[in-house]
Amino acid sequence: MATNSRGQFNSRLGFVLAAAGSAVGLGNIWKFPFEVGDGGGAAFVVIYLAFCFLLCFPVMISEIAIGRKTQLNAVGAFKKLGHKNWAWIGLLGILAGVFILSFYNVVAGWAFGYFLEMAQGNFDFQSPEKFGAFIADWHHIFLYGIVFMAVTAFIVSRGIKGGIEKAAKILMPSLFAMIIGLMIYSFTLDNAMEGIKYYLVPDFSAITGEVIYSALGQAFFSLSLGMGALITYGSYVSRKQDIVRSAALITITDVSVAFLAGLMIFPFVAFLSAGNMDDVSGGAGLIFMTLPGVFESLGPLLGKVIGAVFFLLLSFAALTSTVSLLEVPVAYLVDEKKIKRPVAVWGTAGFIFLLGIPSLLGHGAVDWLSSFMTLYKDGQEASASFMDFVELIASDTFLPLGGTFIAIFTAYIWKKNNLNAELMEGRATQSKWLLNYINFAVMIFCPLILGTITIITVLERF
Ligand code: PFF
Repeated sequence: MATNSRGQFNSRLGFVLAAAGSAVGLGNIWKFPFEVGDGGGAAFVVIYLAFCFLLCFPVMISEIAIGRKTQLNAVGAFKKLGHKNWAWIGLLGILAGVFILSFYNVVAGWAFGYFLEMAQGNFDFQSPEKFGAFIADWHHIFLYGIVFMAVTAFIVSRGIKGGIEKAAKILMPSLFAMIIGLMIYSFTLDNAMEGIKYYLVPDFSAITGEVIYSALGQAFFSLSLGMGALITYGSYVSRKQDIVRSAALITITDVSVAFLAGLMIFPFVAFLSAGNMDDVSGGAGLIFMTLPGVFESLGPLLGKVIGAVFFLLLSFAALTSTVSLLEVPVAYLVDEKKIKRPVAVWGTAGFIFLLGIPSLLGHGAVDWLSSFMTLYKDGQEASASFMDFVELIASDTFLPLGGTFIAIFTAYIWKKNNLNAELMEGRATQSKWLLNYINFAVMIFCPLILGTITIITVLERF
């Protein structure tokens, strides 16, 4: 039951599902496979897993603990536990979240559009040209984007209890089951083994600074960390809950979905490319170009049904993430600026939709937005879209940077004894070694490793 006017999650399961709903989304099913492809396969996977468990897990615990302790939004929480001079950590997070939602909503619109296409049995997206034409057709994508943002705003305007918790309970397990089903199917196809090898047998010579950097950004993005989303969600968590356990469940769920999505997609890629895994970097189009071909192979009727259900569930997974992305600035405006919730919700949603228009148009509709800047990949020049640019700044740079500051703040401003006391709430005993590791991580390991990687890359890149 809600015990205060902010509202609370009804149960531990409710919170874990909502937070896992925030974590599981396009990041796992759309972004993770193509980052693995760009990063050269299994070596990326190994680094990503290490980052999730060793670095991100302690940051997640810090975020939830800060949120629950203060019962405040991302900015208010830092002010309350530190001083008003610390508000900028939260503001940086809100900025990152606003920019992330601006492009995330566009890709969510693609997923929703694919649901409509699959439902009509249209599998014709397997070539880069066909997929390119689909996302360049901005009239459609514009409409899908508006619909998606409006549904997100509608759910957020009803508050966390009504919307997020209920939807997550049913839809997340369905998506999980579907991925497992498709994965098993993928193993039965020709050349599946080539795909599995590519995904699971690491070639450590493929590791470059670039790969480490994108694995780190991906880990933060996928776990919804570094921008205060879990501070905000943590502020709705009851004092009876065990934060460490909840964070472990969220991390394991999120990593499992990404891992299984990879295990599903690479055998499919190998099947469609007749076992040639030399050039897998399909970029943002990887799942959108691969999966329709697979659904087509199931036959017209089954392909239509499975394809439509898959993209519908993917859209829902994206929705539980967009909801959390929008909740961060909204909670800030409601708590700190005393703006009424509906005004904050619809105003912010409208603003972020507008902010996303260059990302929306930068896929063929407007040339200069489509090749907005030049990146160096493997020593070669490659053109990148406006959306790539926003992703690079907001997600790959701001999130790990935010994570660094959150760890430093927790360890040295809030102080480890206060963190530990918060973690002891909700459970009688806390395993000693885990608590020791969390303390070590926030005090030394996270600031050092996260800080170093982020600073080196920022200096190299900008
Ligand atoms: N974790 C989400 C995903 O993987 O799709 C994206 C995301 C949601 C990032 C919420 C950050 C956030 F605060």
